[in-house]
Amino acid sequence: MFEAKVKALNLDQAKERGVERRKRGKSVAYADVTMLVVVGRHLESISYHFMASLLHPTPTAICFFYPLKPTLPSHNFSLLTNTNRFNTKCNAFFDNVANVVDVDHFPSIIQSGILQFQELPDMQRWEFLVFGGLIWIYLTSRPGVLIGAIDAYLLAPLQLGLDNLSGKRNLKTRDFLVGDKIGEGSFGVVYSGVLVPKNVLDGEVNNKGRSKAALLDPKAKDKVILKKVKVEIRGAEEFGEFEEWFNYRLSRAAPETCAEFLGSFVADKTNSKFTKGGKWLVWKFEGDLTLADYMKGRSFPSNLEPVMFGRVLQGVDSFRRNALIIKQIMRQIITSLKKIHDTGIVHRDIKPANLVVTKRGRIKLIDFGAATDLRIGKNYVPDRTLLDPDYCPPELYVLPEETPSPPPAPIAAFFSPILWQLNSPDLFDMYSAGIVLLQMAIPTLRSPAGLKNFNLEIKNCGYDLKKWREYTRLRPDFEILDSESGRGWDLATKLISERGLLRRGRLSAASALRHPYFLLGGDQAAAVLSKLSLSRK
Ligand SMILES: Nc1ncnc2c1ncn2[C@@H]1O[C@H](COP(=O)(O)OP(=O)(O)OP(=O)(O)O)[C@@H](O)[C@H]1O
Ligand SMILES: [Mg+2]
Repeated sequence: MFEAKVKALNLDQAKERGVERRKRGKSVAYADVTMLVVVGRHLESISYHFMASLLHPTPTAICFFYPLKPTLPSHNFSLLTNTNRFNTKCNAFFDNVANVVDVDHFPSIIQSGILQFQELPDMQRWEFLVFGGLIWIYLTSRPGVLIGAIDAYLLAPLQLGLDNLSGKRNLKTRDFLVGDKIGEGSFGVVYSGVLVPKNVLDGEVNNKGRSKAALLDPKAKDKVILKKVKVEIRGAEEFGEFEEWFNYRLSRAAPETCAEFLGSFVADKTNSKFTKGGKWLVWKFEGDLTLADYMKGRSFPSNLEPVMFGRVLQGVDSFRRNALIIKQIMRQIITSLKKIHDTGIVHRDIKPANLVVTKRGRIKLIDFGAATDLRIGKNYVPDRTLLDPDYCPPELYVLPEETPSPPPAPIAAFFSPILWQLNSPDLFDMYSAGIVLLQMAIPTLRSPAGLKNFNLEIKNCGYDLKKWREYTRLRPDFEILDSESGRGWDLATKLISERGLLRRGRLSAASALRHPYFLLGGDQAAAVLSKLSLSRK
């Protein structure tokens, strides 16, 4: 039935026929299906077999998808097969749509596609629509094949072009002044630094005079974070490349979730800080402290109160204020996780040391060196786990170990929705987020030793948090989690758990944000009210 009327039309002929049909009041224009029609010509033979297996090619089946469902008398099923009536309704629907859009404004190839579509019997039009709808649902379901293709083939080259024009991709060693070392991981050393303003002369940008000149210059306030990728360490170069790739990708897909990435450069000289040929990555300096730094403070979480809320919350007792701060932090972490998971990225190293607190109280994710993009299988090696054991979920791997290495990116992308549906890899990060919640709420779990003990105990309890509560000897204080009818505790038990047989035994970021812990309890109201009657500390 498909071979019916899909024959190439001479464009003039096609236009004439279109005009004629419109005059007869039968012309149809489908802005939304235009592309499907053009693509449909090539997919036709495939679609036939696919459709045949999905749909019974009779009006009976089609009626399930029919938006203007006829009212069926319960006793008379013969109406379902009344094709005349069905076709009349279909025609009416197509004709209604036809009047809305003017085909003449479309490019000729699209016009021709539309006209060929019009030539098809109504039944086949519906089949196209349903098939197109299914394809659309597949391509836009998580992690988003379609948006991924747009990003890879359009936005990424566009970003590269614009960055080249603006000089963002031409950073040089002399553009930065490297300050103190603030961290060291397996593959990189992290320094604070400043961006040397353009107006500082090259002569000044040298030796000791350079630092003075740059620092004294009031414009040299642009603080940055520089990560030197270690040379001569196996895997470090690759790690640096992944981190750079993920930062560019997130700067397009979810910039608000992570530290602003300024770019990279390769050192062109060797001295105490630089090694010629070594790669450096640069970010905007987002804040002095990470969540881990705040958690080390005895007064946590109230040491975050001025940062999170700008002021001290008045009219709310200190216990509720602490609970509120923890909830606000969790909300931000999970919101950011939802955003990166929506783009197919799993961070794989969520922990307080990788959460920078900005001076405006925003929590930024950093350290994407271990992240994986499961839309295309980037940085996914089946049996590799590089993770912090204190925050790592029991399954250890983001996908089951037997998952093969990813095929070339376009093929991996095409199958990624299936992979995602079957394995829910995002739940990996959700376990780590659960541990962060537990640490924030239970003081004895904040120290490295406390967390290590917790991990031993929870393992013995089969990763069942309720069992752990009965069993633990750490004397945890559950007051914050138990407040508001224990909603915080309930959320924690749904994050810290085994994945289970169906690999879904844990809340996703989207479901966690719908958990009563975030929805109920009037915390936002309390925050708003107290903001109205605030006093500076
Ligand atoms: N954009 C930023 N703004 C402010 N501080 C940052 C930023 N990026 C990194 N830091 C600081 O640098 C530290 C180390 O950064 P990062 O986690 O990216 O490196 P790392 O190689 O994993 O090192 P480590 O193993 O010490 O965590 C962070 O814990 C944080 O204190
Ligand atoms: Mg880190």
